[in-house]
Amino acid sequence: MPVIHTVQVLAPAKINLALHVTGERSDGYHLLDSLVAFTRFGDTLTATAPGNGEFSVSGSFARDVPTDSSNLICKVAQQVWPEAKVSFHLHKDLPVASGIGGGSADAAASYRAIAALRQLSGAGESSLILTEDRIGDLARLGADIPMCVHSETARVRGIGNDIEPLTDLPALPIVLVNPGVAVSTPAVFQNLDEKTNSVMSPLRRAPNINEFLGWLCEQRNDLEKSACALFPEIQRVLDMLGSTEGCALARMSGSGGTCFGLFRNTDEAGRAAKEITAAQPLFWVKASVVNGPSAIAPQRMRSTT
Ligand code: C5P
Repeated sequence: MPVIHTVQVLAPAKINLALHVTGERSDGYHLLDSLVAFTRFGDTLTATAPGNGEFSVSGSFARDVPTDSSNLICKVAQQVWPEAKVSFHLHKDLPVASGIGGGSADAAASYRAIAALRQLSGAGESSLILTEDRIGDLARLGADIPMCVHSETARVRGIGNDIEPLTDLPALPIVLVNPGVAVSTPAVFQNLDEKTNSVMSPLRRAPNINEFLGWLCEQRNDLEKSACALFPEIQRVLDMLGSTEGCALARMSGSGGTCFGLFRNTDEAGRAAKEITAAQPLFWVKASVVNGPSAIAPQRMRSTT
């Protein structure tokens, strides 16, 4: 009788601390130069193998998750380990269509969970190493999936598939705010005035907090103007975050509508999160930390026969 293993993995939110659009490919995808970082909270994915291929979902944003074959978690399982019929349960705490990874973070968590399950069950290789071919296969499902597999601070280029980990950036308190708008990424890209912008300026190695924040303030999110034109409430969120005490930088992540504020200490970040929640109780507001050690190691839940 085969042993049935269950593991749990975190799918952290992906934050584009900077996002420069540097060109457009002939297939319509855009070239980027982006600094991505990951929070210490996110969705939680529980995976069991061998299973019966079932998928279930709970959590505050469960109603926005497709449970049919369009679900990226199941598509990844179909792509990398179809014979195990892995079963999944997703606890969805991150808003969807909101510029913080969403479906890509969950798909990447599926990849990490399957790697752990394969290791536990002794199914060939001990981990799913990200070869160029695998990165290409995953990027075809979603451009942000390869960077979310790593879920570590990185500079990403190309369409998001060229990933350079950056391990020497200072940890920073962050507050995320989403006003509840579902943003269409293709619409924001199509609405861009200018698609060939400068790359990020050079950043010195191991910057301290002030050097890092100073550099980051000089970078941009080139999608911000386009997203704010389509959804004016995003600009209001940026203004609200920017006016909280201690906010060193307010910017949009990805194609929006989630915006973030960076702070020098967790007390200021906590106060800003409370203030915005009190003013806008229907907004999704979360305080966390970016950079520093990642929290994505899979947890073994149980093994039964
Ligand atoms: O790959 P993903 O499904 O996340 O991308 C959604 C859409 O966003 C794409 O179909 C494309 O219109 C746009 N996109 C882009 N350039 C990128 C990433 C996404 O134009 N680098």
